[in-house]
Amino acid sequence: MKFFVDTANIDDIRAANELGILAGVTTNPSLVAKEGVSFHDRLKEITDEVSGSVSAEVISEDAEGMIAEGKELAAIAPNITVKVPMTLEGLKAVKAFSDLNITTNVTLIFNANQALLAARAGATYVSPFLGRLDDIGQNGVDLIASISELFEIHDIKTEIIAASIRHPMHVTEAARNGAHIATIPYKVFGQLVKHPLTDQGIEKFLADWNNQK
Ligand code: E4P
Repeated sequence: MKFFVDTANIDDIRAANELGILAGVTTNPSLVAKEGVSFHDRLKEITDEVSGSVSAEVISEDAEGMIAEGKELAAIAPNITVKVPMTLEGLKAVKAFSDLNITTNVTLIFNANQALLAARAGATYVSPFLGRLDDIGQNGVDLIASISELFEIHDIKTEIIAASIRHPMHVTEAARNGAHIATIPYKVFGQLVKHPLTDQGIEKFLADWNNQK
């Protein structure tokens, strides 16, 4: 499983990229709005920094508007992936982008049928939202497992991005259940690295080193 960072904050993206494990970035309108910057300028900054896929979401609700917006976004850099919401209009737009060889990430996936439809429309990625399902008492990880099973049975090449990740267990379970990618908030990278025995071990090694005769 690969790692994307889920943010529009350029400092966090740079910090994640410096770790040497970053394969891409996802943004959404809420994350961009928090930054208070021009969307296109920020996408340029991000794509200058990161060579992997950078998801940029359209806000139009009709296919025609999504296609026009997506073409503009895709023109910013070759690694822009147009993020499209899971709707009937979204499916039409995904098909059009697929015909234009523009990569797509179908977002707001909450059941396996949505993922299957997105894949058949030609989506490059589908983004099931784990945390938001858990929030309403459903099991987000089970959805990853279902989509992964369906894609394997039907030999579908669309990649599964585990999204709406809230904590390290989501990351482990997404990987165990077949997600190709986890897109995670920057702070979760720090949590993934941490273990109290690692910290204690470092402390002990240093103490022994400094106390040597
Ligand atoms: C990723 O593509 C999504 O935009 C993101 O993971 C949503 O996460 P949230 O449910 O924490 O807002």
